[in-house]
Amino acid sequence: MRILVLGGDGYLGWPTAMQLTARGHQVAVVDNYLRRRMCREENVEPLFEVPNLHERVELWKSVSGHQVDVFIGDLMDWGFVEEVFRAFEPDGIMHYAEQPAAPYSMLNRRAATLTLENNLMVTLHVIFAVKEFCPQAQIVKIGTMGEYGTPNVDIEEGWLEVEHKGRRHKFLYPRQASSLYHTTKIMDTDLLWFYIRTWKIRATDLMQGPVYGLFTDECAEEERLLPFFNYDEIFGTVLNRFVVQAVAGYPLTVYGKGNQIRGHLNIKDTLNCVRLSLENPAKQGELRIFNQFTETFTVNELAERVQRVGNELDLNVKIQHLENPRVEAEEHYYNPAHTGLLELGLEPHFLSDDVLREMIELVMKYRDRINHDAIFRGVKWG
Ligand SMILES: NC(=O)c1ccc[n+]([C@@H]2O[C@H](COP(=O)([O-])OP(=O)(O)OC[C@H]3O[C@@H](n4cnc5c(N)ncnc54)[C@H](O)[C@@H]3O)[C@@H](O)[C@H]2O)c1
Repeated sequence: MRILVLGGDGYLGWPTAMQLTARGHQVAVVDNYLRRRMCREENVEPLFEVPNLHERVELWKSVSGHQVDVFIGDLMDWGFVEEVFRAFEPDGIMHYAEQPAAPYSMLNRRAATLTLENNLMVTLHVIFAVKEFCPQAQIVKIGTMGEYGTPNVDIEEGWLEVEHKGRRHKFLYPRQASSLYHTTKIMDTDLLWFYIRTWKIRATDLMQGPVYGLFTDECAEEERLLPFFNYDEIFGTVLNRFVVQAVAGYPLTVYGKGNQIRGHLNIKDTLNCVRLSLENPAKQGELRIFNQFTETFTVNELAERVQRVGNELDLNVKIQHLENPRVEAEEHYYNPAHTGLLELGLEPHFLSDDVLREMIELVMKYRDRINHDAIFRGVKWG
């Protein structure tokens, strides 16, 4: 297949591009380095420097022989979008290109505006580009499990069959976000669903949980092919942050009681989920939704596991409960379905002590680069 990876410089985009080419697909990556710019502006640089996209593409070619095309530009610019779609003629679009951080979206009005404008405009442009240039191509979009929030009933996979006054109808599962970022993901889903009903295009919307890890098969030979790895409060995901905190000798920052439950997954599983979704597309006129995680953990469980494995590596890991800067339930029911991707063939990589040990040992190599000031700043929701 010819696959456009939008946001191909990102934590998930770059490993996705490598894996898709390793599986025989033709891939082009598209990015405007927004993520790099935001990290620089907020002084929360990733743990190690990563080469730019052109350099990564050369490196990957020298290691694997596979070619990746590069387009650098802003997907909010319709002229650029048109140029990319006309030049590449994709069969599938992997849409990662958004401002991806809930804490960033809650920083201030400027960050909120950027998040809202960027995320919705890019999604709208992708939809229009598909309609205009490749109406058979499938959009695979990354949403978030945070779209559902934490309702006091089971969470279904995207849809809910409702019986009301003796009649039945299938609706999008009710959504209630807990940050502006998550709200933009809900709006993305609504945009997709509206245009699928109207234009009969097709999409898979992947409700993903927080991702951890950085190793994928494609970077085994060459560490400079690793994705960038943020450990700060704004862009880092919880397990990645705890691993760096453990190495830095910084008490693990558990927010509030630490009983918040989320569905997590290894970055290797993200790549397999998106590949399976691209290779087995939704039907024309269908919005297919999968819940993309493999295991649920409380924040306390994650902290305790990092502490145990860290202490086996002589790190003397401490856990600290901080006043929760977010507005979220700290005790709640959580039972989301997640069978769709398993039925497509996903074979999960579960969180084992070996996985944690491998992550901690890699981070230890970059210990000197950890900026303690970036770890926790207390971005408040309220
Ligand atoms: N990482 C996670 O744990 C996680 C969990 C759930 C959902 N997601 C979603 O997955 C997607 C990818 O996440 P990630 O962690 O790789 O984030 P990321 O920031 O590393 O990747 C997104 C990439 O898109 C690019 N981008 C953003 N706006 C753009 C624009 N207007 N034009 C061109 N490029 C643009 C950024 O520069 C960045 O390289 C995001 O949509 C995010 O919301 C991520």
